[in-house]
Amino acid sequence: MSRNGIQLDRVHQGDCLALLGRLPDASAHLAFADPPFNIGYDYDTYDDRRSSDDYLAWSRRWMGEVVRVLRPDGTFWLAIGDEYAAELKVLATRELGLTCRSWVVWYYTFGVHCKQKFARSHAHIFHFVKDPAAFTFNVDAIRVPSARELVYGDKRASPTGRLPDDTWILRPQDLPDGFGAASDTWYFPRVCGTFKERSGWHGCQMPEQLLGRIIRASSHAGDVVLDPFAGSGTTLAVAKKLGRSFLGCELSESYAARVTERLGTISVGDPLDGAAEPLKSAPATKDGRRLTAKRQPRPKRKPSATARRGKATLVK
Ligand SMILES: C[S@@+](CC[C@H](N)C(=O)[O-])C[C@H]1O[C@@H](n2cnc3c(N)ncnc32)[C@H](O)[C@@H]1O
Repeated sequence: MSRNGIQLDRVHQGDCLALLGRLPDASAHLAFADPPFNIGYDYDTYDDRRSSDDYLAWSRRWMGEVVRVLRPDGTFWLAIGDEYAAELKVLATRELGLTCRSWVVWYYTFGVHCKQKFARSHAHIFHFVKDPAAFTFNVDAIRVPSARELVYGDKRASPTGRLPDDTWILRPQDLPDGFGAASDTWYFPRVCGTFKERSGWHGCQMPEQLLGRIIRASSHAGDVVLDPFAGSGTTLAVAKKLGRSFLGCELSESYAARVTERLGTISVGDPLDGAAEPLKSAPATKDGRRLTAKRQPRPKRKPSATARRGKATLVK
């Protein structure tokens, strides 16, 4: 299958602006983008130190193209760091006409420890839609067990669970009742060096479970999922496993080649990597826990100094 001669179900090596420019209007159902955050991260090809004006002008161009290639009922999820979250949200809504359905905070563990400031343990993930009256949101595909069920073992808990909602959590281990499953602060451990899931060659690899929630919620089997910044290829790998068509772009030749390798090792229907419900590790309550507490895996060595989600150069 192709779009304007562009092959689907693969990663394309090159500048996403060139790829996006060749895509017809309204050709993708869902776009997920995790662009460089302009924080000086050491990618192999891309220079992540631009002036703010330059970065914002570039963001306006590629985001504008993403909006153009999205179908009228399409969805755009954007992951971004603190530094540009506010400006990119304004750009998306005020200039590009998108509607923000949720400002999700992805809380993650295993960020880089800082000596003189709080360690970064979150990223922002915006859920934008083109038409607030017509978009895909598959509620049943992304239900989570409620705290009522998971923590309190309450018989009144809905057996089908509930949607994640908006509760801020600092650290799961600080909460007497464990990290609430029903929250728009999403808890997925960062893909650590020791995790089986870790590719080992891209420091910004996102967890498959996080992409699983996004792709399940905002697309149907057979839909086209677009990722202009493929990186290690997580979006494309998860789209493939979930039976979606996909299209990715990656500037780096080396990363793109490895993404192609990664995609070659997986098949439609394969399970996603990582724990689907990390919250089942929530600690006991006074009523006793129904589930056995399980510790998260601990890294045997320190995370890479260049791990972006707690970028070393930002640690002052
Ligand atoms: C933050 S990483 C994406 C990580 C990805 N979400 C994952 O899970 O692996 C951003 C990627 O965008 C790539 N990139 C930077 N500029 C690009 C451009 N103009 N076109 C395509 N890819 C680009 C970088 O090489 C880098 O691999």
